Amino acid sequence: MRTAPGPIGLFDSGIGGATVLAALHQHMPHDDLVLLSDQARCPYGPRPAAELVRIALANTRWLLAQEARLIVVACNTASAAALGTLRSTFPGVPFVGMVPAVKPAVRASQRQAIGVLATPTTIAGTLLRDVIAQWAGDARVIAQACPGLVEQIEAGELDTPATVALLTQHLAPLRDAGVDTIVLGCTHYPLVAPTIARLMGAGVSIIDAAPAVARQVARIVASHSTAPGSGSIRYVTTGDQRGYQQLIERCGLPPGQIERIAPLDINPQPDAMINAHRSE
Ligand code: DGL
Repeated sequence: MRTAPGPIGLFDSGIGGATVLAALHQHMPHDDLVLLSDQARCPYGPRPAAELVRIALANTRWLLAQEARLIVVACNTASAAALGTLRSTFPGVPFVGMVPAVKPAVRASQRQAIGVLATPTTIAGTLLRDVIAQWAGDARVIAQACPGLVEQIEAGELDTPATVALLTQHLAPLRDAGVDTIVLGCTHYPLVAPTIARLMGAGVSIIDAAPAVARQVARIVASHSTAPGSGSIRYVTTGDQRGYQQLIERCGLPPGQIERIAPLDINPQPDAMINAHRSE
């Protein structure tokens, strides 16, 4: 019989989930964590919302099969497309998703001019529009899509000339608008935060939602159980492990074995779906 509580499960299209995992591990060092990086289907950004929902359902079913007791959708794009469906499909499972950190950015901004960097899907989606409508008030918000940036980060190109050129282009509208606060609206982007900081220069703050997500997860976990885990971390990818180890170390995570699994079936038979649903 299992004595320790199940792990906290996270999923993302790729290495972005590791930036959230790092915040969780720092905040909850005794909890067991499992990160599913769906690198076989990375990037999620250009995929239609209906497909992202099927992907998110498959990722969730896999994490539940690993006995995950809480799921963190460690991807802004998947959170915007699928969080509502996940919550209604698995009513007994606690989910925590990513929301662009516009609220803290507006509080922090002296000039009331903020930039949001995210994937094209997140920038075009209703979640960001709603968050801006709810929290921006009179602040100016420059929402900038960054096509190609996730691919550069996945390739480990965090500060190469090509990535610097891409970032310079994406940051130009934010510079022109005189923003003093930048929201990272994609979980991959903290890996290039030092490059963004250098390109924007002094006086610009960068906000990553991961620490706030970690605090929220800790609150939920504390309200369900006090039994500690062993602080283990499982790294699992559906893609190619090359370069993964280096990137998790860049996130400040301990090295570990990278498990590789086949890409998940996103069109399962109805029976398999019913068996995988939980209603604790
Ligand atoms: N980390 C994902 C996010 O937060 C990247 C999306 C993608 O794969 O395009 O949006």
